[in-house]
Amino acid sequence: MKTYDFRNKTFLITGASSGIGRETAYRLAEDGASLILLGRNIENLKETQKKCFSLSANSTFDFFSLDLTDEKAVADLTGKIIAVDGVVISSGKIEPFPASFINWKKIDSMMHTNFYATAIIVSLLLKQRKIKDNGSLVFISSISSQFPHLGGTLYSSSKAALEAYVRNVALEFSNKRIRANSISPGMVKTPLFDEAVDNISEDTMNKHLDKYPLGVGYPKDVANLCAFLLSDQSRWMTGNNIVLDGGLHLGTL
Ligand SMILES: NC(=O)c1ccc[n+]([C@@H]2O[C@H](COP(=O)([O-])OP(=O)(O)OC[C@H]3O[C@@H](n4cnc5c(N)ncnc54)[C@H](OP(=O)(O)O)[C@@H]3O)[C@@H](O)[C@H]2O)c1
Repeated sequence: MKTYDFRNKTFLITGASSGIGRETAYRLAEDGASLILLGRNIENLKETQKKCFSLSANSTFDFFSLDLTDEKAVADLTGKIIAVDGVVISSGKIEPFPASFINWKKIDSMMHTNFYATAIIVSLLLKQRKIKDNGSLVFISSISSQFPHLGGTLYSSSKAALEAYVRNVALEFSNKRIRANSISPGMVKTPLFDEAVDNISEDTMNKHLDKYPLGVGYPKDVANLCAFLLSDQSRWMTGNNIVLDGGLHLGTL
């Protein structure tokens, strides 16, 4: 479904090799965008690239395999790419861990992927003027930043830090009309979701999913909102965190 005209736009997507990031790539390609696709798994990136070409043969789709926690690799990448109209940060990981067992190594590991790596790549892009004026930055956070869940201390904290970063970037770069917003999805069916299911009982997961009036989310649901936030249709929105949870926040008695 074509909604926006992205034919002259280039966007960078992290986490483009899987789940929400990959689906966002397809969504933006459908509207004619050119994309810079980032991830680690080369085969998966190639698959994303191939499908993007099938959706928009006249666009360009470059992919780079790198670990976003590798400072040098990230600096090399931001140094060589062209300026983009927007960024979607969809890289991330979830590792449930009891609070009483947290140590420096565990905190470091979670924060490196979900917060430091994001702050570093976006800040480098801004510093090197690789985000065009009027650009849009979209960050995938999680409802976990606001709603606790067992084993969620590290993941929730990393996402809360991310949302605070987004609000500050929104303020600092408003003079260039560069916008920054985050999306906080509830449960979305991706490989990361499947990983979460492996870590808890089926019964616990089913009880959780029963609380979603509109059922579980799909990557496309998040990709559609990313497309809107990258488009000029959202030109007056910045510093927002949008909860996208199929009505979970309504709560049940
Ligand atoms: N699925 C959900 O229910 C849900 C709910 C709320 C929020 N979220 C958030 O949504 C985002 C996307 O999650 P998803 O469900 O789409 O997960 P996913 O399918 O597991 O995808 C995660 C992506 O992040 C990339 N990634 C992870 N660590 C990386 C690193 N160090 N360097 C470079 N790339 C890295 C992975 O790349 P490779 O596979 O190539 O290694 C993959 O492309 C995450 O930030 C997650 O916290 C997900």
